[in-house]
Amino acid sequence: MGKNSVSLRGRNVLALEDFSAEEIRLVLETAKGMKDIIHRDIKKVPALRGKSIVTLFYEPSTRTRTSFELAGKYLGADVVNITAGTSSIVKGESLRDTLYTVEAMGVDAIVMRHKAEGAAAYASKVVKPVILNAGDGAHAHPSQGLLNLFTIQQHKGHLEGLKVAILGDVLHSRVARSDIQGMRKMGMEVHIAGPGTLLPRFLSEEPGVVLHDRIEDAIEGADVIEVLRIQLERMKGGLFPTTREYARVFGLNRERLGLARKDVLVLHPGPMNKGWEISPEVAYCGNSAIQEEVQNGVAVRMALFTLVLTGGRQE
Ligand code: CP
Repeated sequence: MGKNSVSLRGRNVLALEDFSAEEIRLVLETAKGMKDIIHRDIKKVPALRGKSIVTLFYEPSTRTRTSFELAGKYLGADVVNITAGTSSIVKGESLRDTLYTVEAMGVDAIVMRHKAEGAAAYASKVVKPVILNAGDGAHAHPSQGLLNLFTIQQHKGHLEGLKVAILGDVLHSRVARSDIQGMRKMGMEVHIAGPGTLLPRFLSEEPGVVLHDRIEDAIEGADVIEVLRIQLERMKGGLFPTTREYARVFGLNRERLGLARKDVLVLHPGPMNKGWEISPEVAYCGNSAIQEEVQNGVAVRMALFTLVLTGGRQE
């Protein structure tokens, strides 16, 4: 089928499990053109002129919130940001009432991050604007999954058949869940390793996912390594002895990187705990695409806005 045979117009972006491989390809293809816009002197096109977008963040963010905001602005939309700490949420306004309030202002899309799994899906049921999930608890972070796929495709030229090693705190990681869904749909081989206490039970039943006790076995021959952040803020404690011990047994360092393919691509969703899950020298080595992921995040989010708000055609 041709690349225009699918349309995402009007679609909520809640989780990559809702996307077909063809829909993912459409987003990645559209993002390529968007990346060119980011490199122009004047980063402004009128594709979303007249559209309005609200980002509604109940949890902290640097990359996701800023890149969604810039994505909307580069495309000519009006973008307004609401963060929990500086809104009427601190006066006790409920999620439902906050959503009704934003909807009443006539917005076309709401980008939402919330600590509760399913919050974005709930929002999509109670209000009419398109909902883009910017992270809901440990459930999903679909735009991060897409930007990871985009970054890998830009470097490797394809996705199918590549071996990816996902390392670390999968238990608390919405990024890992979106990665696994997206990567499997695109025919990648997914290998996972980390402390047993940080590997959720669903992984052992996940089709196409290979679990390893030692991270060295997951890394062996990998085309891509994605290191996950240790999410201390979501842990009640006791899930691993010390961060020093974690680094010794599960951290990605130069020596372990040497087990992967020479042209291995290193990813990390950020922010990094350098010296814990990843050594500083690996974070900034020639194989690292961690900064590039951030830039690609803008391009992918521009693609998502364009596709869900206009179907990809200028109005
Ligand atoms: N990757 C990611 O979600 O980063 P932020 O928390 O800074 O948005």
